[in-house]
Amino acid sequence: MIYPIVKYGNAVLEKPAEPVTAFDEKLKKLIADMFDSMYEAHGVGLAAPQIGISSRLAVVDVSFKEDPNAKLVLVNPQIVHTEGKQSGSEGCLSIPEFRETVTRPKKVTVRAQDAEGKWFEHTGEDLLARAFMHETDHLNGKLYIAHISALKRDLMKRKIRKMAKAGEW
Ligand code: NI
Repeated sequence: MIYPIVKYGNAVLEKPAEPVTAFDEKLKKLIADMFDSMYEAHGVGLAAPQIGISSRLAVVDVSFKEDPNAKLVLVNPQIVHTEGKQSGSEGCLSIPEFRETVTRPKKVTVRAQDAEGKWFEHTGEDLLARAFMHETDHLNGKLYIAHISALKRDLMKRKIRKMAKAGEW
């Protein structure tokens, strides 16, 4: 099933999500649906709150279907190590049509559980490191616009309010 993506302004995006405790068939179905919904929306990462489910679960595929090994499921993820810095353009499926330059660590190690509940660590660089930070932020109720200047953020919020008024958000 393809879920519609929840947009900025919905409270579910700005509250910390609940830990996942049941590693059952329902979770596996949700994970499969999240990959389908992410690909449909042309994204490389999707967190459960973005489909209106306040659970600590995210899916990532920075290869966008090119490499089956790049498909990552992050259940209850925690960032355990970061190194260096990178500055680059970042967007979010929940804030469509906007992109901003965001500084993130260059190399990030995430500790998470897989669909079976098994803990693992994965280290990513560049875009993958950015995705780990972005998706883990989502699960903490934080959006990438928290990392841009207040001036840019206010401008973006004003534009979104205008679009919402016009029924375009
Ligand atoms: Ni996002």
